[in-house]
Amino acid sequence: MRVLLLSDIHANLEALEACLAAAPSFDVVANLGDIVGYGASPNEVVVRSRELGKILVRGNHDKAVTGLIPLQDFNLMAATAALWTRDQLTDENLDWIRGLPRGPLPLPDHGQAQLVHGSANDEDEYVVFLGDAIAPLMTSTVPLTFFGHTHQQGGFFAGESGADAFRPEYRTVGQAESVTFQLEKDMRYLINPGSVGQPRDGDWRAAFALFDTEAQVVQFYRTPYDLKSAQDRIFAAGLPSRLATRLATGR
Ligand SMILES: [Fe+2]
Repeated sequence: MRVLLLSDIHANLEALEACLAAAPSFDVVANLGDIVGYGASPNEVVVRSRELGKILVRGNHDKAVTGLIPLQDFNLMAATAALWTRDQLTDENLDWIRGLPRGPLPLPDHGQAQLVHGSANDEDEYVVFLGDAIAPLMTSTVPLTFFGHTHQQGGFFAGESGADAFRPEYRTVGQAESVTFQLEKDMRYLINPGSVGQPRDGDWRAAFALFDTEAQVVQFYRTPYDLKSAQDRIFAAGLPSRLATRLATGR
C-alpha cells in the first residue's frame, strides 16, 4: 500500500494542487489535520480534501474554526484567520470539519502505524525537539506514528542505540525534489510529512510524503507552487498580510 501523507494544508489551494500534481501514484491519502486556517481558499481545500478520502484526523485550527475550542489560546493573527474562515465556509463544509475525528487514528489495513495531529498523548502537543519526542516515541502502542502540527518536515527515531532527530536534506531551494528515508526493523519513529500550505522549516516549497508499507520507505517531497497566487488571495481577502509574506520564506 502506498499512502500519500498530507498535513497542515491550511487552506492553501495552490500548494495542495502542486503536491497532488507532484505526487507519484498512491492508493490512499492520510490527512493529518489543519485543513483550514491561515490561507484564503478554505472551501476549495475542504472540497478537495473530501474528494481525497476518509482517512483524516482533526487539527487545532479545524477545531477553532468550528468553535470546538475557544480562540483565546490563539494569537491575534491565527484568531483573525479562524474567524474569517468560519465566515467563509459553507454550512456543509463547516459541519464536515466539525465531524473530523480526534487522533490517534490507526492507519487502516496496517496495524503498526497511527496518525495524529500533535501526538498520540495530546492532539494539540507540539513535538518540535528531541526532548518533546521521547515520551511519544517510548509510550506509543505502535512503532510508527505520523504527525503534523509543527509544520517541520522530518521527525524522530529511537532504537537500542538511543534516539535522535532527522531532517531530509535537499540540494536546492527552488526545484522539485525528494529524499528517501528507509525504515529499519525494531526501531520506533515519529514522522512528519511537513506542511503542505504553510511550511515553517525555512523552506518555502510545499511539503508532503509518501509511505510505501511493503518497502518500508518514507519518501519526503518538496515542490514549488504558485506562491504569488496564494499570496494574492490572502491580500485580497483582507487577512493579515504576514500570512501571505511568511509563505515566501517558509517561516
Ligand atoms: Fe497547522
